[in-house]
Amino acid sequence: MAEPIAVVVGGGWWSERAGAGRRIFSTMSRFAKYAWGVLAANVAVVLWGAYVRASGSGAGCGSHWPLCQGVVIPADPATATLIELAHRVTSGTALLLVVGLFVWSRRVAPRGSAVRRGAALSLVFMLGEALLGAGLVLFALVAHNDSLTRAFSLGAHLLNTFLLLGSLALTAWWASGAAPPRLAERRGTACLLVIGLVGTMLVGMSGAITALGDTLFPAGSLREGLQQDLSPTGHILLRLRVLHPAAAVAVGLYLIAAATAIGLRSAAALPGRFARVLASLVVLQWLTGMLNIALLAPMWLQLSHLLLADAVWLALVLLAAAALADPGRIRVAAPSRPLPAGDTPVVTGARG
Ligand code: HEM
Repeated sequence: MAEPIAVVVGGGWWSERAGAGRRIFSTMSRFAKYAWGVLAANVAVVLWGAYVRASGSGAGCGSHWPLCQGVVIPADPATATLIELAHRVTSGTALLLVVGLFVWSRRVAPRGSAVRRGAALSLVFMLGEALLGAGLVLFALVAHNDSLTRAFSLGAHLLNTFLLLGSLALTAWWASGAAPPRLAERRGTACLLVIGLVGTMLVGMSGAITALGDTLFPAGSLREGLQQDLSPTGHILLRLRVLHPAAAVAVGLYLIAAATAIGLRSAAALPGRFARVLASLVVLQWLTGMLNIALLAPMWLQLSHLLLADAVWLALVLLAAAALADPGRIRVAAPSRPLPAGDTPVVTGARG
């Protein structure tokens, strides 16, 4: 008897992918799994941080840092205090996770390896994240503050977040056995990627400013929002708001064209796959951006748009890592246990 179609469809593409995913996961070292976990935890903390801004809870702990309203745990806290406090607890935990990543990388990866460098950079950007977050609170760049200083601080915060997530992703990627980059003979590809990376950073920063404008000056309707944007007497944050969609369309088109060219140019399969993922994410991001404007940026859509922005960024970083990987070294070992004294780390690999 023929199998029901539902079973055939359900057991096809998805189960093949899931099976491949499980196989890759089971061959990863414990350190690599931990590194991917730290990345996922940090993405969650970033989303909660956006929720703090979007819900206007940034002043939930007053102008106190690291204490909340001058104490460790405030008695009878308001909702905004709980939201801000949860952000501090989760971002503190994320800091500890990144310290753990740094210490562990020293034990499992050889001196000078890409894994160690990635973990060290992750720690630097994690500390930057903590300083920027503390600066927002201590200088009262929260809640109803509509200064340009706040706008630029949020832009800087987003840039640092991108750099942190990128470093964490690269650490996990290299710890999973991917080869470190080699730029010789690939200067053209590197150039295309650097332009894309810088462009995406600028789009992200302009998005953070747009999000601040939406939070501080919510429009009652789409028409009112457009009038706010175009009014020559409007607040500077509203006039800056129009830059983001324009930059996002231009940079998005560039990313699709550059990723396609890099995918086609590469002899390996991975860059092509990342290029396709990146192009799909850019199109999806355009759609959520347009929806954000049409629906006046409801909270769930703000968070989805930020999650997709992080996904676009990570796909681009991993595309860069795959496209620039040294073809002569397919695996840099990062074993889950420390290497015995005097043992040299394994660098295996084959050409092509
Ligand atoms: C590659 C494409 C894009 C990227 C990487 C991107 C990135 C971002 C980022 C990082 C934010 C800040 C989110 C936050 O801090 O909560 C943002 C906000 C925003 N973006 Fe985009 N964006 C893209 C495309 C677009 C497009 C095409 C549009 C409109 C047509 C758009 C409209 C908006 C709006 C309205 C906001 C503010 C939402 C809010 O109030 O939270 N975006 N974007």
